[in-house]
Amino acid sequence: MQLDVFTLVPHAFAWLTEQRPVAAVLGDELDLRLFSYRDYTPLRAGQVDDEPYGGGAGMVLRVDVVAAALDAVYGGVPDHRVVALTPQGRQLDQAVVEELAAEERLTLLSARFEGFDERVLIHLASDAISIGPYVLSGGELPAMVVTDAVARLLPGALGSEESGRQESFSAELDGGLEYPHYTRPPEFRGWRVPDILLSGDHGRIDEWRIEQSRLRTP
Ligand SMILES: C[S@@+](CC[C@H](N)C(=O)[O-])C[C@H]1O[C@@H](n2cnc3c(N)ncnc32)[C@H](O)[C@@H]1O
Repeated sequence: MQLDVFTLVPHAFAWLTEQRPVAAVLGDELDLRLFSYRDYTPLRAGQVDDEPYGGGAGMVLRVDVVAAALDAVYGGVPDHRVVALTPQGRQLDQAVVEELAAEERLTLLSARFEGFDERVLIHLASDAISIGPYVLSGGELPAMVVTDAVARLLPGALGSEESGRQESFSAELDGGLEYPHYTRPPEFRGWRVPDILLSGDHGRIDEWRIEQSRLRTP
């Protein structure tokens, strides 16, 4: 998968690329490219934003700047999926992550300030995604959230012992939440691990886990 991220803060992604799962698939299943709008802006002094028409607080990421970056990288508006990250978009969930992970090429557009000039959303992006009903200061964290969640689904991202396991929202758990986990010690401050998990009876443990998953899934 080729995943391109347009941002004003490309260095923010350094940590993400050093960690699993992204590090495990980089250069193999995942070609992650980071582009800074400032490197492509046609305006002087690296300008990328401007005051909103009609007045009001904050600055708006200019449509000509985003278009110039897309033109430089793709020679125009790409024919693959271009997702603008915005609180006003469709809310991200595991089904959307799976949909995005199935793309061969994907572009994420992030903004800062007051957000995108609306023409970016209308004419340059193919869809808009929100990572939740709250406002962050920039699209970098949302882009990293999408990148991490998508990377986990790429072949080789997780160790063989982890892949295909029952996780929250997975088909193995009928889309439900994962059951509780415990590790050593078996008792701490009087807080005991459920006896079933210490029983060694894997058939009953599997049943207990499925039941726990159902109980905690709304
Ligand atoms: C301060 S926010 C802009 C908020 C916008 N003025 C509003 O009220 O909807 C700046 C940028 O951060 C990103 N962002 C903030 N919250 C987000 C969220 N929940 N999901 C996706 N992107 C978000 C977007 O790229 C957004 O354009």
